Amino acid sequence: MDPRVKPEHDSGAWGGLSATLHTAMTATIPILTTERLILRPWRDGDLAPFAALNADPEVMEHFPAPLSRAESDAAVGRMRAALAAQGHGWWAAEAPGVAPFIGVIALAVPNFEAHFTPCVEVGWRLAKEFWGRGYATEGAREALRFGFEELGLGEVVSLTTTTNARSQAVMGRLGMTRDPADDFDHPKVPEGHPLRRHVLYRLKSAKWRKGQ
Ligand SMILES: CC(C)(COP(=O)(O)OP(=O)(O)OC[C@H]1O[C@@H](n2cnc3c(N)ncnc32)[C@H](O)[C@@H]1OP(=O)(O)O)[C@@H](O)C(=O)NCCC(=O)NCCS
Repeated sequence: MDPRVKPEHDSGAWGGLSATLHTAMTATIPILTTERLILRPWRDGDLAPFAALNADPEVMEHFPAPLSRAESDAAVGRMRAALAAQGHGWWAAEAPGVAPFIGVIALAVPNFEAHFTPCVEVGWRLAKEFWGRGYATEGAREALRFGFEELGLGEVVSLTTTTNARSQAVMGRLGMTRDPADDFDHPKVPEGHPLRRHVLYRLKSAKWRKGQ
């Protein structure tokens, strides 16, 4: 295993449990590190800052609506369950020395059907104060490395609305490319909604390897 992939040792949250049980429940969730970031399992302390960014209309401009605290907490519950079940998914992103939680970076399996599913997507959502620092690209690059090198994926996709230029710029920086023939109507966005039309970016493992 790559030395940057560390098993979880977040003992604070499991203080009352035996070491054996702790290992059994968390050993499959990798922690990914980059020069400036740690992509790690969720802590309860992440829920409030995640709810704050999900309530920010600017962060949620390309989603149907900002999330309530209850909706945000429910989303964290689903992300925690998927991370534990699959060993990858939506990680909490920490910038050591800057902030314990800046947002989320993902290598996740979308939970809807479209012409390109089943698939694995790389994704990101950061609090506004952490935009413009290269964090999304840096974290996503490591998530891609994990997907191609550790999981042996043949392809990773990314998707967003046709209007989300910042997110598409991250995809471009990662070497992902869009074929307009892959554009699609997101099945979870209501028909007629201005955010329904989405673009799909793809990156094959062979192309990723050439860039390394
Ligand atoms: C999409 C999103 C993650 C992009 O964030 P971002 O900060 O623009 O992207 P990056 O982290 O890659 O940062 C790139 C920017 O940081 C700058 N930067 C500053 N310091 C840098 C450094 N040390 N290294 C690299 N880039 C740096 C780059 O020049 C670039 O600036 P630019 O946007 O003016 O060209 C962010 O806008 C977001 O969270 N949006 C809301 C949620 C969302 O839409 N998610 C996607 C839904 S599919």
